[in-house]
Amino acid sequence: MKMNYKLLFAGSTLAIGVMALLAGSVNERETERIALNATPIISEKDKNKNESWERYYPRQYSSWKKTKEGSELRDMLKEKSQLPILWAGYGFAKDYNAPRGHYYALQDNVNTLRTGAPVDGKSGTMPTACWTCKSPDVPRIQERDGELEYFTGKWAKYGSEIVNSIGCANCHSNKTGQLTVRVPHLNRALVSAGLPTFEESTHQEKRNLVCAQCHTEYYFQKTPWTDKEGNKKIAKVVTLPWENGLTAEGAEKYYDERNFSDWTHKISKTPMLKTQHPGYELFKTGIHGQKGVSCADCHMPYTQEGAVKYSDHQLQNPLDTMDRSCMPCHRESETKLRGIVLQKYKRKDQLHELAMDNLAKAHLETAKAMEVGASDVELKAVRADIRSAQWKWDYAVASHPAFFHAPEETLRLLAVANETAMQARIKLVSILAQHGVINYMAPDFSTKEQAQALAGVPLSKLVEAKKQFKATLEKEWHKQAIKNGNLNISSRKGLDEAKTSYSK
Ligand code: HEC
Ligand code: HEC
Ligand code: HEC
Ligand code: HEC
Repeated sequence: MKMNYKLLFAGSTLAIGVMALLAGSVNERETERIALNATPIISEKDKNKNESWERYYPRQYSSWKKTKEGSELRDMLKEKSQLPILWAGYGFAKDYNAPRGHYYALQDNVNTLRTGAPVDGKSGTMPTACWTCKSPDVPRIQERDGELEYFTGKWAKYGSEIVNSIGCANCHSNKTGQLTVRVPHLNRALVSAGLPTFEESTHQEKRNLVCAQCHTEYYFQKTPWTDKEGNKKIAKVVTLPWENGLTAEGAEKYYDERNFSDWTHKISKTPMLKTQHPGYELFKTGIHGQKGVSCADCHMPYTQEGAVKYSDHQLQNPLDTMDRSCMPCHRESETKLRGIVLQKYKRKDQLHELAMDNLAKAHLETAKAMEVGASDVELKAVRADIRSAQWKWDYAVASHPAFFHAPEETLRLLAVANETAMQARIKLVSILAQHGVINYMAPDFSTKEQAQALAGVPLSKLVEAKKQFKATLEKEWHKQAIKNGNLNISSRKGLDEAKTSYSK
């Protein structure tokens, strides 16, 4: 009897203890839930500075800050020496690195040789639109100056204004904390494609669309407008070519209908298109996209810290977080799944190399045909093939991990690109023969240096001018931004020393 009482007592003490623990954890969760749903008190003035959110959301902030750890810099022109040939006459032939952590997005834009070396707010070649997917200061200025004013003028115009890298205010409302998109170009594109706007979309789709503010194909649409003082201006407005659908062919048709080209190729004189990074569009064609998995499921996995669950804001390669990113849905071992991903990469890379080789040779053989007297009329069909082939190749690879996000579509596009480039080269064989050239061999482009020489890139001159810019105007920008209260100097930790392709 006594014994039983003791047992019962011990048992109930244990039960009470467990219940107290549970209640504690329920309380903690409830507190956390309230904190997460509470309206944060982040002022309009401070919301674009990521540090302003730290007090209220320490976990999201500190994981966001870890995007700094994704600092590896890969010079893609070195890894794939065909690229300077394919982009001859265009900024990407000068400098092009694989993407890295959001912490660096803005600094990498300032550092790249593509944005040049302005000496004041009016010089330089690139338009203001180049800042658009780099900073929460972009919507701040669009809201302050008007969208068309923001899209008017040279990149350097906003050097002292756009000073905080991609952060909280790009994806969250400072009033409600809810997901939001602040740049108007995304909703315009969704409407043009007949799709629901961000606000009309499901919660799961919003977890894609915040990324689609930036990870999409776009071009700068020339838009004439008149400001309040009656001055006539031309804006270059970021526009997503989605009217004919979110596909490579749909966008190609869109550009062809407008007779649009991004640049004229320096070697082959082809009117070219540059694909940007149709990451969202391609993802939607893959199995995860079609089954309703969202970017955030893999790239921002839920993380448990004690009783608190939150979204990991260290946007990075999900293969580094497979336990949280993949295993909630998959039963295979991590090793096996990783092996499958690597296999997909290798399959893509084989076709990728073939397509680039054929395209690069097609450009160089066209130049030879021009040299020996082939006319624009003779070369018209060749150039049409090159334009279309390079568009499809670029579409497949410009959003790098499409081999994983959408393997079948990536391989299809590369196969079509390769075939179309071959068609151009077959035509070139006969054009060259008609002008007395047989067995022409394109010059060697197997290193970045050789390829940039063929593409006429004056690298050392560009680097010198950039270093001058970084020692002068860039420093002025930061001083001005701190003075105006738009930048906390602490947020620039490690950025002055951030690696570049030209200063390693
Ligand atoms: C405001 C624009 C913007 C938004 C919004 C945005 N990104 Fe990015 N993202 C970029 C840019 C620009 C880079 C390249 C930065 C660099 O190389 O310096 C990048 C890089 C990345 C990388 C590469 C990181 C690495 O370490 O290699 C990943 C992964 C990524 N983004 C995923 C996402 C996901 C997922 C979302 C949505 C939850 C998203 N991004 C939202 C602009 C954006
Ligand atoms: C590229 C877009 C993006 C950026 C930048 C971003 N977030 Fe988020 N955030 C998300 C997404 C997506 C979710 C998941 C929301 C959901 O499913 O409801 C989220 C969720 C949250 C939540 C809800 C709780 C949770 O963890 O799921 C908070 C709070 C939050 N973010 C705070 C921040 C703060 C603070 C920053 C800046 C340091 C930030 N976010 C930057 C996209 C972003
Ligand atoms: C099913 C999981 C999954 C989903 C969903 C997903 N990704 Fe990824 N993503 C990956 C993996 C895995 C990689 C890395 C592949 C590799 O390079 O090995 C990656 C890589 C990336 C990169 C990095 C590129 C680089 O080279 O550093 C970007 C950017 C990116 N994803 C953006 C997105 C966007 C935007 C979405 C939504 C439209 C998305 N991802 C949806 C799994 C996913
Ligand atoms: C939210 C659930 C979910 C998450 C998270 C997820 N997957 Fe999947 N994955 C799926 C579904 C659903 C399919 C489709 C196959 C099926 O229905 O069984 C799939 C298919 C695949 C396939 C085969 C399809 C193909 O493209 O060949 C691979 C490989 C794969 N996933 C890898 C990954 C990796 C790697 C991660 C983490 C980075 C991941 N998945 C994260 C749900 C998920």
